Amino acid sequence: MEFQAKASNLLTQRSGCAILPIFDKQKLSKTAAELNSADNKSIENLLKRGDLKGSLGSSITLQTLNTGKADRAILVSCGNPDGIDARDFIKLLNKIVSATKATATKDVTLHLEEIIVRDRDEAWKARQAAKSFSLSNYRFDQLKSKQKPAGDLKKVTYNIVQGKQKAVVSAALQQGSALASGMQLTKDLGNLPGNICTPKYLSKEARKLARGNAKLATKILGEKQMRELGMGSLLSVAAGSEEEAQLIIIEYKGGKKADKPHVLVGKGVTFDTGGISLKPGAGMDEMKFDMCGAASVLGTLKAVSELDLAINLIVVVAAAENMPSGKATKPGDIVTSMSGKTIEVLNTDAEGRLVLCDALTYVERYKPQAVIDVATLTGACVVALGSHATGLYSNDETLAADLLNAGEQSQDRAWRMPLWDEYQSQLDSNFADMGNIGGPKAGSVTAACFLSRFTDYPWAHLDIAGTAWHSGKAKGATGRPVSLLLDYLISQAN
Ligand code: BES
Ligand code: MN
Ligand code: ZN
Repeated sequence: MEFQAKASNLLTQRSGCAILPIFDKQKLSKTAAELNSADNKSIENLLKRGDLKGSLGSSITLQTLNTGKADRAILVSCGNPDGIDARDFIKLLNKIVSATKATATKDVTLHLEEIIVRDRDEAWKARQAAKSFSLSNYRFDQLKSKQKPAGDLKKVTYNIVQGKQKAVVSAALQQGSALASGMQLTKDLGNLPGNICTPKYLSKEARKLARGNAKLATKILGEKQMRELGMGSLLSVAAGSEEEAQLIIIEYKGGKKADKPHVLVGKGVTFDTGGISLKPGAGMDEMKFDMCGAASVLGTLKAVSELDLAINLIVVVAAAENMPSGKATKPGDIVTSMSGKTIEVLNTDAEGRLVLCDALTYVERYKPQAVIDVATLTGACVVALGSHATGLYSNDETLAADLLNAGEQSQDRAWRMPLWDEYQSQLDSNFADMGNIGGPKAGSVTAACFLSRFTDYPWAHLDIAGTAWHSGKAKGATGRPVSLLLDYLISQAN
């Protein structure tokens, strides 16, 4: 989809469809008023009949207009003219997208400039608009025998009032569109089944991302190289699988040479059966989503490189498949991680932390500014926070605050969880430096405590077990937390 910022006039400039806000008490936006006076008060008369419901996002589509150069117009209820909150604006946008797509228009002009969104500026509104319109084209039907035809809508014009807004709004539209293309990659990878999206498949995708871009370089370690590095923990997860584990590293150099890199680490368990600690059968198919952390860091990288952000970024994916077999790791087995710390694998289903800890040790070499790992780590996090908030853990107050703020800004929210020393003893083992599980209490916290033992830099952990995908009828990857991560990295670039 194509986006542009432009001062446009409904009466003199062609448009396939114009979106015209109507505020509470039938207050017309300026553009709606222009059309109204040019067309014998047609809009006023229409509103008087009461067909436009007052609830946010209700709309009436005018399929033909008597005046002006727009083929169609959609009158949309936009609530309180003094301001609505960010969440409501996003809901409103989604209704506008649906109403637009219900027509056959190829292009749409958004006249949203009079909508006031509390604590947000015009650039934020434009970014959200580009994101909503772009993502509305997402579908995952590549594995069905017939694909649906692409939608009609190809171009979105975001109306601006003053010429000086043009640069800011154009940049924001680009950000929204890059965000959506990153999220699309994240969703695609998440939605692909485990028999296609294997660790090697993720490697191939990483190489594809980097191809032809001088700022990107890929390095991929196979099991032999990981063994040489002493990654006994990561390798123990892959032991039962026919698929070779991969450590995928992509370096993005957009900043100055001396700028310390930001590092994103993603859990890439391409299928999690639980291993010998086998999961129950019901709903096990959803463990194909256990690589959504990996998918989200790759999607974020895609957006960052599309935007050419002035930062240095390293993305690392720890990819493995967790399977039971005669060669699989057994409960009670003790493995040695790259850090030298030994781990008693009390439950082979707590495998995410086992792949991540070696990746977290590996990235020390980059002397990172900060490391953020993203993982579908614990069912306990879903119990604690449900599917609205991502669990955030951090050993650094500034990093934690920045991430919370990025989540709030992008409405891809996280909630801070404790990482207190008191929880650490739950990981004690009689036979190794630590166990890989911390008892049934506070399962999401003890998983984070486990990871914290492998970090000696500013670090945050995002547990996306509840937010990375939808279950039930809308089963599918959500693309979270790419919005949060991109917002954070954009703010770091400024
Ligand atoms: N990938 C799962 C976590 C998960 C479960 C995410 C359900 C989303 C929905 C992870 O590898 C896992 O199995 N964790 C165990 C840990 C336990 C054995 C300590 C869990 O949460 O049950
Ligand atoms: Mn597991
Ligand atoms: Zn898992």
